[in-house]
Formats: sequence, structure tokens, C-alpha cells
Amino acid sequence: MEIVFNQVKDSRRSATDMTNIPFGRVFTDHMFEMDFRDGQWLQPRICPVDAIPIHPANLTLHYGQSIFEGMKASKNSEGIPLLFRPEAHAHRLNASASRMCMPNIEVEDFVEACRQMVIIEKDWIPEQEGSALYLRPFMFATDEFLGVAPSETYKFIILTLPVAPYYSKPVKLYASTKYIRAAQGGVGEAKTAGNYAASLFASKQARAKGFDQVLWLDGKEFKYAQEVGTMNIFFVIGDVVITPPTDGAILKGITRDCFLHILNQKGYKVEERPISMEEVVTANDEGRLQEVFGSGTAAVAVDVCQIGYRDTLIELQPAADSLAQQLKTEINGMRTGQIPDTFGWVEPAFAVENA
Ligand code: COI
Repeated sequence: MEIVFNQVKDSRRSATDMTNIPFGRVFTDHMFEMDFRDGQWLQPRICPVDAIPIHPANLTLHYGQSIFEGMKASKNSEGIPLLFRPEAHAHRLNASASRMCMPNIEVEDFVEACRQMVIIEKDWIPEQEGSALYLRPFMFATDEFLGVAPSETYKFIILTLPVAPYYSKPVKLYASTKYIRAAQGGVGEAKTAGNYAASLFASKQARAKGFDQVLWLDGKEFKYAQEVGTMNIFFVIGDVVITPPTDGAILKGITRDCFLHILNQKGYKVEERPISMEEVVTANDEGRLQEVFGSGTAAVAVDVCQIGYRDTLIELQPAADSLAQQLKTEINGMRTGQIPDTFGWVEPAFAVENA
């Protein structure tokens, strides 16, 4: 893939406080951009981050044909930028695209676009513990047409942002028995904008009750835990680590997948199976609920300190060396090259002689 470059004259990097980065608000200088028309992706380019003109009849604004990814890059001790599982993100983007009737992107083109963004923005990769360069690849419909039909034109953009972890402390979850995020047959598995919009109302109510996020339950019986929306969920009961299976209504988290691989490699008893809130409450009552944590690219691994469910409030005291914290150390270590990556997840953006 031949990318056209239009570099900024004056970088904003030196004027940016990299020690205090709010998640999602600080953007690097450049973005990758590519348009889809007449059945093909056109000239890819890397250009200064700028507003994009949108026609008021843009299909995305009306019918929500929009998908995204969240991915991280870090630097190793030699200053080489490392991408983390870019192919897995390409495959997931394409799965979301297919579900939303949008065009796929060649995996190698997606990876090359990410690689070039990470190279051009390497000075923006934060080096503080737990921080990273967050890549936000996204695609949306650009047809100007007020009809419910798949768009014939699309735009694909990659923004990059220096970020600290999404959550800075353990989270309190409210298991909603009134609202759902996704149901079987819906688009819960796709990383599509509407799933996040659909979560806002219940999240606002959960916050009003003193919680941070909603723990979504299944859309049929409000019985089984699904995910948190910003994260997948894990429960440690006795010596077994349990996470709900990705059955179509749950996002196939890449961090979730990493944790399953790491836990299996370390010999933990791991179960991917439906887990009901009754089982969680009973385990807590019997003193067997060791910990609960969320996993996600932005969140990495976050301890859960409270779960509100019907009339029950489960309170947990996350330990400093909780499994979540151990997994976080492990994955952050792999991302920065400090812990050997035996899974082949880490990809240097360029060879050491080009550093
Ligand atoms: C991510 O973890 O990358 C996500 O897309 C979640 C989002 C709420 C930041």
C-alpha cells in the first residue's frame, strides 16, 4: 500500500503535557485517512488531524453505520515502537464491518496503516508506567442519502492519542435488570457505535445511584452476566477464573483473549461459560468470590470493588496483588518488551537498525 504523506509544519508535541493525559482528549498531529468508492479503497494518506466536512444527510448521522477499534502501541527500552496484536484488531474490524454491511480492509493494509501512524507519531508514545499510544481506527458511511440501506461510500480513519489507563481506580458496577446492551441475534459482538449510544441512559442512571458503570445482563432473563460495555468481565470463584462466553451478544475483547491465553499458560483453571448473578451472589455469601475484574484495551485490567444487583450489594476489597493487577503487569510488560512475549503478539514498527 502506497501512502501519501502530508506532514504538519509545527508539531504540537512539545507543547503537550505528557505527564497528565486525560483519556480521549489529546490527539497527535496526524491521522490516516482512506475513502471507499466504486467498490474499492482509494488513495490512502497521512495528513494533519483536521475536521472533516459532513453533509447533513450523511447516512451515519441518521442510521448509525459506524464501527471502530481500540488498539495500543508502546515503546521498548531501545525506543522501538511496538504494536500490540494489530492483525487481531484488523480481523475484528472486518468482522464488525461484515455485520454492519460495510467493506472489509485487507489485513496487511490495516496493519501497515497502523504501523506508519505509530512511526510518524513515535514521539507521542508516552513512557510512563501504564500509558500508551492509543490507536482508534474507525469506519463510517459517507453516502448523502436519507434511506435505510447500506452506504456505497465510506471513510476509514485512524486517530492516535497518548493515553493513561481508562480507569484510575477500582470500579463499582450496577447490574441492570431493566435495560440491556445487546441480545442474541443483535449487534452486541460488533464494535459498532450504536452499542455505546445504547448504553448511555442506563449508565447515567447507574452513576446517579453511585456506581461507575453498568454490568450488562443477558437480554432474555436478566440472569447471566454479559460484559461492562467498556470492558469484558471476569469472576474468580474459589480457584476458578470464569468469564462469560462470547455468544454473539458480547464483544470479543482482545484483552479478554490475551488474559485467557495467559491464564491457561500459567495453569489457572479457566472456564468460559454462562455465569448467573445468583451464582455470583451465592459465592460472595459463602466467601468464595475472590475477585471480579474487567478487561479491555483502554481499561487493561480493572478491579471491581462493588456490584449492585437487585437488593444485594456485593462489596469486594481488591488486593494490591489481585489477579487483575498481575495480569495488568504481565500485559503491560509484554507491550513494552519488558516481559517476554511467548504468544507472538508484539510487533516492532521497524527494525532496530532503523531506530
Ligand atoms: C477500548 O477498550 O479500546 C474501547 O474501545 C472501549 C472504549 C470505551 C474506550
